Amino acid sequence: MSAVIRDMTAKDIDGAGEMLFKAFNDVSSKHGHGVRIHNQQVAKVWAWSMLRYGYSDLLVAEIGNRVAGICCLNPRGRVGNVGPVAVHPDFQGHAVGRELMNALLKRAEGLESLRVIQEAFNRASFSLYYSLNFMPVATVLELFLDGRIEKESDRCCSNNITELSKKDLDEIHAYDNPRSKLDRRSDLEYYDKWGSVFVCRNQDQIRGFLACLPGSEFVQLGPLLAEGEEEALCLFRHAVEVFKGRDCRTRVMARDYVLVRALNGLHFRLQSVNNLMVRGSWRPDVYVEAFGIFPDGA
Ligand SMILES: CC(C)(COP(=O)(O)OP(=O)(O)OC[C@H]1O[C@@H](n2cnc3c(N)ncnc32)[C@H](O)[C@@H]1OP(=O)(O)O)[C@@H](O)C(=O)NCCC(=O)NCCS
Repeated sequence: MSAVIRDMTAKDIDGAGEMLFKAFNDVSSKHGHGVRIHNQQVAKVWAWSMLRYGYSDLLVAEIGNRVAGICCLNPRGRVGNVGPVAVHPDFQGHAVGRELMNALLKRAEGLESLRVIQEAFNRASFSLYYSLNFMPVATVLELFLDGRIEKESDRCCSNNITELSKKDLDEIHAYDNPRSKLDRRSDLEYYDKWGSVFVCRNQDQIRGFLACLPGSEFVQLGPLLAEGEEEALCLFRHAVEVFKGRDCRTRVMARDYVLVRALNGLHFRLQSVNNLMVRGSWRPDVYVEAFGIFPDGA
């Protein structure tokens, strides 16, 4: 089956949305995880937003005038996030995914490392990335908070949480960059414009931040970077309070056990177990991280 691999254009938005909707719901329901994207329109908006705001390389595979697959490279400084990667079920198993990934790796030649988060149940994507030298380096837990659950009022925490303002942007960027090893300035601007970035300080020292992006189905909590689990928890508590009544989703590392247990205490429930896979030398540092999904594709 011969596919043409090329850059995505505005004409591909509807086809890409339909393909994302089919591919992710198909793999999810096959593994007993139910529907992942609730309607096709949401997937089309996702495809449109990636093209409009992704600051990325978006590649599509075209077969017979259909968008058969997509893969996205989101460079953030010397490290690139990979995702989404998907092939329409009609075309799976015919090397389309591999062709897309090979083209993406060519685009990524100047980068030091690539990161991708893949669902641990997904044998196809694990095998594909593993064969391309992506190594599993951490277990990432996707957690979901049902906004309908009544919660007790939060204990106050000793850190001071404020919302990012334009004048803080340089300071937050300077805090994040050496710790995450990513250049996320454009993302911070995006989250500030369309969502909220909460900043944790102790005696004027930045101790962490959490970016939150409200969507039509849930509020994405992350990316987060914090000195430790205590600061991360303060940020999550604050976000849950601000977005009271909304469903929330986040992805945290299983190694941050105290944080995960505390989030369970706030009624976050495990949605799926994922692998953080890395090609190259980047590794998670000692800081607590939570991963977003848009616009950086992680
Ligand atoms: C993962 C996905 C993109 C692979 O695309 P694809 O075009 O079907 O894959 P290919 O035919 O190019 O196969 C590439 C490699 O994937 C692995 N693979 C593909 N299908 C597989 C399966 N059913 N079981 C195990 N491994 C499989 C193999 O390693 C294969 O290499 P090989 O044929 O040289 O052994 C596709 O299955 C998909 O879109 N899934 C749903 C969305 C998704 O899960 N995306 C990944 C999110 S992280």
